[in-house]
Amino acid sequence: TRSIDVAVVAGDGIGPEVTAEGLKVLDAVLAGSGTTVRTTPFDLGAARWHRTGETLPDADLEAIRGHDAILLGAVGDPGVPSGVLERGLLLKLRFALDHYVNLRPSRLFPGVATPLAAPGEVDFVVVREGTEGPYVGNGGAIRVGTPHEVANEVSVNTAFGVERVVRDAFARATARPRKQLTLVHKHNVLVHAGHLWRRTVEAVGADFPDVTVDYVHVDAAMIYLVTNPSRFDVIVTDNLFGDIVTDLAAAITGGIGLAASGNVNPDRTTPSMFEPVHGSAPDIAGQGKADPTAAVLSVALMLEHLGLADEARRIETAVAADLAARGTAVRSTAEVGDALAAAV
Ligand code: NAD
Ligand code: IPM
Ligand code: MN
Repeated sequence: TRSIDVAVVAGDGIGPEVTAEGLKVLDAVLAGSGTTVRTTPFDLGAARWHRTGETLPDADLEAIRGHDAILLGAVGDPGVPSGVLERGLLLKLRFALDHYVNLRPSRLFPGVATPLAAPGEVDFVVVREGTEGPYVGNGGAIRVGTPHEVANEVSVNTAFGVERVVRDAFARATARPRKQLTLVHKHNVLVHAGHLWRRTVEAVGADFPDVTVDYVHVDAAMIYLVTNPSRFDVIVTDNLFGDIVTDLAAAITGGIGLAASGNVNPDRTTPSMFEPVHGSAPDIAGQGKADPTAAVLSVALMLEHLGLADEARRIETAVAADLAARGTAVRSTAEVGDALAAAV
């Protein structure tokens, strides 16, 4: 029998609530499968910060590194200054573990309510760069708090970083039936980074002659996501555009409670990390209201990454059936998790 070792960072707000359901479904799907799972919880997030002032000490990072994968709930808390946990814990994990592919699939499952009147078939995946862009913290401010304050957040785009994520996106596009790749950027204004992305897509595209390449400015992409989302198959984009695009992508495919993601290191030199696209949702935390489906689908992405494709499919099938049967019934976080665990 094979054993998988999963580090669990449940985090803040609804993070622990949805993660508990993800783990329930993970246990259920692996029961009797010949694969066993060992989970190790890490006490990281707001509570740890309040107690010790720490966000992600080296000892925890090194311990996490030794696992096969990481499941994360959500981080961020109204009682902690904004950015402390987001940068000091979540982004530190993504950067330290070189999660350069932030994989965010968007699929409108049958029977799911969408705000779009005529959505058509929606099934695309956003390959969001995960280690560069304005997220790297290259910036600073002077004369803070004065009328002469200057605040800079510099977007860092390296040929190396752009090439590797673009190549990954092409590889995903070529493996999909429609074989279509859309670069989303803003090269009409961000001429330095934009043209690096454009040239890279052109160059890497030569190695993938069966993939059709398209380009859409990010503002227009917001239009098409609402008016014609079927035009997208694989979207490749930078870290910040990808963050924004994928919240809208979630909203049109049934809501943020359904959107799963993987922070992937395709070279497999470090454990990849799987988490819902949503945050800690302080507005509904502690009420048992959060939809754990995104966390459960993130478990499926993790299993797929670990080579357990059958188990991943069983989770997706259970989620699809649950979504189709949902209607307008209001269920608690645990009720949804129990139903999915029973169905896999
Ligand atoms: P959010 O995703 O937490 O919440 C946005 C809205 O979606 C809220 O109305 C919330 O109630 C709702 N929502 C989120 N998840 C839901 C679920 N599973 N079921 C039902 N409704 C759900 O985003 P926010 O309010 O902008 O941020 C809150 C905190 O989370 C901040 O501290 C932010 O930095 C952090 N955050 C963390 C992550 C992460 O850990 N990956 C992602 C986004 C935001
Ligand atoms: C996400 C979140 C994070 C991001 C924040 C909390 C750092 O919004 O995972 O989408 O911007 O990547
Ligand atoms: Mn986000």
